[in-house]
Amino acid sequence: MLLPLTILVLHGPNLNLLGQREPGIYGSLTLAAINELLVAEGLRLQATVLPVQSNHEGVLVDAIHEALGKYQGILINAGAYTHTSVALRDAIAGVNLPTVEVHLSNIYRREDFRHHSYIAPVVIGQISGFGVQSYLLGFQALVHHLRAGNGKS
Ligand code: DQA
Repeated sequence: MLLPLTILVLHGPNLNLLGQREPGIYGSLTLAAINELLVAEGLRLQATVLPVQSNHEGVLVDAIHEALGKYQGILINAGAYTHTSVALRDAIAGVNLPTVEVHLSNIYRREDFRHHSYIAPVVIGQISGFGVQSYLLGFQALVHHLRAGNGKS
């Protein structure tokens, strides 16, 4: 039998605008559509997905803290907080739950200020540049990591 898993999917600021926000960069799928794809992939992989979006740094920090004991891992697109937030980085390091960082766009092909991620050093890995596939690949990688027996990052 497969290890039952529950994964917190965190979406940061402005990702609620997906579908209408700079579609040339972020694609035309809405956040609801991305969440539906993740839930469907979760059914296939026998992992429950709980998506949360917030535009507020503290709400994201709280969600990471509350993940302890409830979720086995975290998939996060921290949006612009990727490039600014020591608090998110410290929250991920603090709970020590295996976490995968994803970005729709390739942050390394964009403006210099997007090239640095505060959270990259405290996650298992990062997938950037594949649109919605970044989320699906990141989710698969996280589930694989957890089922391979890596309960802690
Ligand atoms: C993003 C990239 C960030 O630089 C940006 O601020 C976002 C979205 C992405 O998914 O490509 O909001 O995380």
